[in-house]
Amino acid sequence: MRILSGIQPSGKLHLGNYFGMMRPILDLQKEGQVFLFIADYHALTSVTDAAALRQGSLDVALDFLAFGLDTERTIFYRQSDIHEVTELTWLLSVVTPMGLLERCHSYKDKVAKGLPATHGLFSYPVLMAADILIMHSNVVPVGRDQKQHVEVTRDIAIKFNNLYGEVFTLPEPSIREEVAVVPGVDGQKMSKSYNNTVEIFGDLKEARQRIMRIVTDSKTVEDSKDPAACNVYSLYRLFATPEERAEMEARYRNGGLGYGEVKKALYEKFAAHFEPYRQRRAELQRDMGYVESVLKRGADRAREEASRTLKNARRAVGLE
Ligand code: ADP
Ligand code: TRP
Repeated sequence: MRILSGIQPSGKLHLGNYFGMMRPILDLQKEGQVFLFIADYHALTSVTDAAALRQGSLDVALDFLAFGLDTERTIFYRQSDIHEVTELTWLLSVVTPMGLLERCHSYKDKVAKGLPATHGLFSYPVLMAADILIMHSNVVPVGRDQKQHVEVTRDIAIKFNNLYGEVFTLPEPSIREEVAVVPGVDGQKMSKSYNNTVEIFGDLKEARQRIMRIVTDSKTVEDSKDPAACNVYSLYRLFATPEERAEMEARYRNGGLGYGEVKKALYEKFAAHFEPYRQRRAELQRDMGYVESVLKRGADRAREEASRTLKNARRAVGLE
């Protein structure tokens, strides 16, 4: 099994990223060959400050290494170190129907949120298809918001293979239903662009304040409450054991439990869960040479696979 995923270095990573994409990919390392990359070409569609992009990429690298990414097994690289990806994007662009991209929700959502409607933002899914297809990935772990992009990748691969022969492997999105959409502190999907995140490695005081501000309904302490409808519980359950979940759910239903108490319990869980990783990250930060060397080695390994696939694609279309 070939597993691949990428994440944009466009802001500090948060609980939605952690449960929706990072944890799944860290767990999948035991089950197959994982390719994981920092999607810096993609981030250019929203980040226009060069220093912020550079720093953002190193931050993502530190985050994953702090979680104990296995850099022997997993191929971890910066997307822009693999120039082959951009060449393949062109070969895919010429077979991608406009209508396929016009249907993408993500483009429309981003433009509605104020991102400039550039050609790069519009053709974002084609670059993503190149990322996936160049490594012959069959499993792509992502949150639900990225499902459509993986489906577009499949459609592009089918189109290309029909025209030119079987060059590409068809990928499948892999979505963990229980964390498909992690809510933010305002109850919408947690996202860097909604200012509703709890950062994984941010300031603890700030995280506590954000957790204490999570939006709830106005039931009183005595009222019986529905855990499934509560944003605080939706986050709490991600950190809790099955026994702790059952106990907390019963307390919601029985009444006598205030949201403030659950928020405190959530904060305690959050802080304790990430504490060892926080320490590891601080240690790694003192050795950025090591971080750079991991990315360089990853790029060398990724390029081998990418250049093989690109060569096949170039041959298939008649460039060689
Ligand atoms: P953001 O919305 O904060 O910009 P990205 O689009 O960079 O996040 O997402 C990076 C990865 O994290 C993707 O695989 C995405 O599906 C996943 N992800 C982001 N937010 C959430 C969320 N709230 N719930 C589940 N997964 C998420
Ligand atoms: N578009 C993804 C996101 O915003 C990041 C990404 C780029 C990606 N290329 C990918 C994810 C390839 C999976 C596979 O989260």
